[in-house]
Amino acid sequence: MKIAIDGPAGAGKSTISKSVAKMLNYIYIDTGAMYRSVGLAAIKAGLDTRSETELQRIINNISIEIKNDEHGQKFFLNGKDVTKEIRKPEVSIAASNVATIPSVRLKLVDIQRKLAEKSSVVMDGRDIGTYVLPNAELKIFLTADVDERARRRYKELIEKKAETNFESVREEILFRDKNDSERDFAPLKQADDAVLLDTTNMSIDEVINKILSLVEEKC
Ligand code: C5P
Repeated sequence: MKIAIDGPAGAGKSTISKSVAKMLNYIYIDTGAMYRSVGLAAIKAGLDTRSETELQRIINNISIEIKNDEHGQKFFLNGKDVTKEIRKPEVSIAASNVATIPSVRLKLVDIQRKLAEKSSVVMDGRDIGTYVLPNAELKIFLTADVDERARRRYKELIEKKAETNFESVREEILFRDKNDSERDFAPLKQADDAVLLDTTNMSIDEVINKILSLVEEKC
C-alpha cells in the first residue's frame, strides 16, 4: 500500500507521516529532505538557487542517501551527514527555490518512485498524490491555518535552539506557500481523490487516528 501525504509547510506532515509509518510498519519517505539536500548543495557551491543552468552543474553528480538507525532517519549529501543542517531556515528557502526547477524535480521524483516500488510506504511532500504516486491507495492533503502552522514551526525551531523569531518564520512559510503553489511543474495542489484534513484544531493523535481509520477502510 502507498500512502501519499501532501500539504503546505508546517501542516504537521512529517510528524504525522513518521508516526503513521511506524504504526503500520511501513517505510517513511521524507521527500522534502531531498529538496533540502539539493538546496544545501547549491548554497555550498555558491549557486543561484533559482537558476536551472547553474543547478545543472551539480544535479547529475549529487548523491543523496537516507539511512535509518535507532535515532530515526539520517540524510547524507555526497557522503556527509546533513540531517541537522538541512533544517535551517535558509535551507528551507533554497529548497523551495530549487524545487521550481524541472530537472531537479525529475531527478528526485525518479529516486522517490524507485524507493516506493520496493515496499509499502508513507511518502510526504507537495506533489506525491498528484505526480509522484498518482496511483497511491490513500491520499491525504494535510493543511492548517497559516498562523497555526507558523506557531508549530516556530516552537520546533526554538526547541532546537535555533535563533529566530515568530514573524520571520511566518514570512518564510508564506514565501514557500506561494513559491510551491505557483510553480509550473508539479505545484502544491490537493489531488482530486485526496482526503482533506484541516489540522488547525486537531491534536497529533486525532490526526493519526483519523488516517489510521482511513487506512483500515481501504484494507
Ligand atoms: O517538506 P519540507 O518543508 O521539508 O520541504 C522543503 C521544500 O521542498 C518545500 O518548501 C517545497 O518547495 C519542496 N518540496 C517539493 N516537493 C516535495 C517535497 C518538498 O517541492 N515533494
